This record gives sequence, structure tokens and C-alpha cells, in this order.
Amino acid sequence: MPRPDWAPESIDIERPSVARMYDYYLGGSHNFAVDRAAAQAMIAAVPEAPLMAQANRAFLRRAVQFLIDSGVRQFLDIGSGIPTVGNVHEIAQQAAPDARVVYIDVDPVAVAHSRQILAGNERATVLQEDLRNPARILDRPDVRKLLDFDKPIAVMIVAVLHFVPDSDDPSGIIATLRDALAPGSYLVLSQASDDGRRADERQEAEHVYQRTDNPLNVRSRAELTRLFDGFELIEPGLVWVPQWRPDSPESAEDAERAVFIGGVGRLGG
Ligand SMILES: C[S@@+](CC[C@H](N)C(=O)[O-])C[C@H]1O[C@@H](n2cnc3c(N)ncnc32)[C@H](O)[C@@H]1O
Repeated sequence: MPRPDWAPESIDIERPSVARMYDYYLGGSHNFAVDRAAAQAMIAAVPEAPLMAQANRAFLRRAVQFLIDSGVRQFLDIGSGIPTVGNVHEIAQQAAPDARVVYIDVDPVAVAHSRQILAGNERATVLQEDLRNPARILDRPDVRKLLDFDKPIAVMIVAVLHFVPDSDDPSGIIATLRDALAPGSYLVLSQASDDGRRADERQEAEHVYQRTDNPLNVRSRAELTRLFDGFELIEPGLVWVPQWRPDSPESAEDAERAVFIGGVGRLGG
């Protein structure tokens, strides 16, 4: 099939990508037939998948707004995805034009499209890196140029940690990032959870994501809580994402259907 200009030569368009599947759940146009087929298989297994993506984006928006209101002006968004409506720099810079944002993703389509929409924005950039190499991310000159590690930074790991298996040591990854941050910094985390879900749904979802380069690693609330080691969880703690500081009580109804648990922690000191 013809390759559109937004698809770098390096990508395999015969294999589904989690970034492009997520783009499809959100109604985006940066996906191929192979991504749509995998996303539809996921929707057959877990019908809430598109709702899950929307609820997660809404959580991200409220979390960024909360951080801006709390005085944070620097954001390191890892696993930032293919840009869609309401990206971190848009929310942050609309409220605070001096806010600085570094996006990181492993997916070449996410990086290429982010680079395009960030052209001319001197306070935001994107780099292709892997969350599993946090030291490399921290060492990148562009990260150090844009972000001042002596001041608070919000590290966003939103809807990405379920692509990192326990064998890659997620708590060690977060500890490396945490140890580089100044007091008053924040961690924003969300990920798919199987709390209260049927075992067969989890198995089918895992089966779908086996087709991608990023198999799924769902986690319980207890496991996610441990990942906030060293951070103080902000109210209301780790909850189904629609329950995190909802815009209205109605928007938090049937929250467990969102599949994702999320929370925000603050580094004391
Ligand atoms: C479900 S999307 C989430 C996008 C965005 N953070 C959000 O919440 O809307 C997950 C993103 O994580 C990226 N990703 C997966 N594994 C990664 C890794 N090890 N390092 C960096 N990015 C990764 C994927 O390429 C994809 O763009």
C-alpha cells in the first residue's frame, strides 16, 4: 500500500503499533489497516477501549491543569503518543505561555508528527527515546537545554507503563527519574488495570497486544501504589481516571469502565 508522508521509511506498516492503535481509539487518522484491525479486535475483547482512551486523555488534561495551577512550569511527557486534541504543551502554554515541555516517545510516527506540530515552538520539543532507558533521557542535551532540573518538573508517564514489563524494572525506572528531580516535582501516572475485570477479558486483551512490539502488562492498584515510592499521593490518590478531580460528579460515574487507574504524586522536601 502507498506510504503517506507522515509515515517515516523506518516503520513497519504491516505490524500494528500501540501508538497508532491508540490514535484509532481516539478517532485520529495516523493509522493503517493493520492497526485498525488490531484495535477492533481489542474493542471486541474490551468494548470500553475507545472510552478508556478518551477518559485517559481527560485525566491528562485535568492533571496538567492541576499542575499549572500548582505553579509547575516544566513537563517531561514520556510515551507522549501521536499528537491529538489537547496535548500537554497546548494545555500548559495556553494557561502559562512560559511553560516548557519535552515530549519523548519510541514510536517514529509519534515523534515525526510531534516534530511537525511543534515547529516554531521554542519552549517545546520532542525526542525519540525509550522510557526503559531513563538515564539516556536525562542525559540528552535537548532535555537539559529546555528543562531546569533545579526547579520542579512534572514527569508524565501516562498510559505507557503497561507497555513496560516487570522484567524491565518499572520501579527502578521511576526511581532513576525521581532521583534527578528537585523537591516540589510531580509524577503523573496512569495505566491499564485488571482490578474488577474478568480474567478472560484480560487474556484476550493481552492476546491482541502480543501482535505488537509492546505486549500488555496490566497491574493492580496495589502494584501501582508501590511505583509512587518517595512521592506523596495528591488527593484523591490512585483512582479510576474519571474519579481523579472530575469536572462534574456525573463524569465520574461508572468510572471502572475506563479500565485505567491514575494518580499524581508530589516529591516532598
Ligand atoms: C497509549 S499511548 C499514550 C499516549 C499519551 N501518553 C496519552 O496518555 O494520551 C502510549 C504511547 O507510549 C509509547 N511507548 C510505548 N512504550 C514506550 C517506551 N518504552 N518508551 C517510550 N514510549 C513508549 C507508544 O509509542 C505510544 O505512543
